[in-house]
Amino acid sequence: MADVEALKKEAGIAACKYVKSGMKVGLGTGSTVKHTVIELGRRMAEEGLEIVGVPTSLATEKLAREVGIPLVELSEIDGLDIVIDGADEYDPNFQLIKGGGAALLREKIVAQESAAMVVVADDRKRVNTLGAFPLPIEVTPFSHEATVRALSRLLDCRVNIRMAGDGPVMTDNGNMIADAHTGPTIRNPAKTELDVLRIAGVVQVGLFISMCDVVVLAGQDGVSVYLNSHGRLSD
Ligand code: 5RP
Repeated sequence: MADVEALKKEAGIAACKYVKSGMKVGLGTGSTVKHTVIELGRRMAEEGLEIVGVPTSLATEKLAREVGIPLVELSEIDGLDIVIDGADEYDPNFQLIKGGGAALLREKIVAQESAAMVVVADDRKRVNTLGAFPLPIEVTPFSHEATVRALSRLLDCRVNIRMAGDGPVMTDNGNMIADAHTGPTIRNPAKTELDVLRIAGVVQVGLFISMCDVVVLAGQDGVSVYLNSHGRLSD
């Protein structure tokens, strides 16, 4: 039986088939898409693939540099051809929870700038209703206690600031992450996204609505590709 790390690697590598020479590629964050970044670096070095990348976190920026992917800023280019990224959950409508790695703000900006989004995941990420994975919400450090209280009232659940040891996790943007323990109750994620974004103090929420075009999923029976019939990669 394949272990989770092997599944992540399979999915991460399989997704590279969407990347062709000349493309501008958003590089996601996490333990699955790291295999995509490494594979793209290998294909550049060994197979003549020519791409430029935009990383979604400082960690991915470091990895991309290590494997030799040239990087550009979003401000230097007119959009991206594709972004490949991981997800914490995806539902039957291809709506996502992201932000388990605290990179949701940059991930969402990069996804928004991309002509297509490919998600790489192992089969534990597929759910019927979003929310078993605590919903990550990036909040300003200023008055974060008040923001957490407002989120808790809105979502009617426990919300806590994500910690790393003694201190809060700080994002690459100098903010904090509030995790909302909604349970699998997010039946209208588009509405939840808008409701959460209305709270002052919220910078961004890890609900990715109508962004994902395809999921490359690795399971015990191998890699499966699920195409969003309403997405930008369907015929
Ligand atoms: C980071 C993310 C990641 O893509 C998500 O947490 C999935 O990560 P992994 O592939 O390590 O399970 O949203 O903010």
